[in-house]
Amino acid sequence: MSTRIDGKVISSQVLEEVKKDAAEFYQQFGIKPGLAVVLVGEDPASQVYVRNKTARATESGLNSIEYRLPEDTSEQTLNLLIEKLNNAPDVHGILVQLPLPDHLDEEKLIAAIAPEKDVDGFHPVNVGALSLGKKSLVPCTPQGCMIMLEKTLGDLSGKHAVVVGRSNIVGKPMASLLLKANCTVTVIHSRTTNPKQLSQQADILVAAVGSPEMIGKDWVKPGCTVIDVGINVIEREGKRKLVGDVNYAEVEPLVNAITPVPGGVGPMTIACLMRNTLIAARQQH
Ligand code: GUN
Repeated sequence: MSTRIDGKVISSQVLEEVKKDAAEFYQQFGIKPGLAVVLVGEDPASQVYVRNKTARATESGLNSIEYRLPEDTSEQTLNLLIEKLNNAPDVHGILVQLPLPDHLDEEKLIAAIAPEKDVDGFHPVNVGALSLGKKSLVPCTPQGCMIMLEKTLGDLSGKHAVVVGRSNIVGKPMASLLLKANCTVTVIHSRTTNPKQLSQQADILVAAVGSPEMIGKDWVKPGCTVIDVGINVIEREGKRKLVGDVNYAEVEPLVNAITPVPGGVGPMTIACLMRNTLIAARQQH
């Protein structure tokens, strides 16, 4: 029998802790930890994410401020808003929802956010600190994956972790965190010549490719622990369905533990955003 790693249960434990700490912060400093969420344009998925982030923030006792800007917002306008938020004493965390419309340069924009308010952990200063193994604001999705792994397995020292995908948002920071936890880390990507051969050696397999149900039973070693970061919308039997990067039905019987989609990594990402906002607020006071 494999264990289903329940992101809803674990994320609600994280959120309970944030709620308690946020109340303590308010008592101590007379203000709530503040999170500014910026959305440019009308991307439907981004709108849902932003709505969820704002709702969780409010429930957790944070002060959440939403900025919705039109699709044709200029770089200058967005930069002015970021500068204002960088200097606002009641804003401790700034999140600009990605992807941005094509005419805006994501990299430049991320670099404009004050590193101490970068609750996404995407700023080069935070990326550099993480890769040096130093204290930093850690990207929310890989942070959530680490919490689930440590809850499930305890100490990760010496385990062989295979990360499938090398994105800046998940794959790369995930590899850094696993290395920091003393795993032996392999990163597989689109140019890897023998991906299945490598992934079959994994004690821990993290799938973050954005390809529906790509990881089948021939990718996993029996008894391995699987974290599925993928969120893919597919059509099946005329219905829209949310699936991960892992073929759950095929892989689940073989493994020690696995995260479902939905209800796995997704809720953890939002909980870790709240956690980062609290960490940022404490560092600024
Ligand atoms: N879009 C998809 N994932 C993320 C994320 O983690 N942070 C931001 N800012 N945008 C995203």
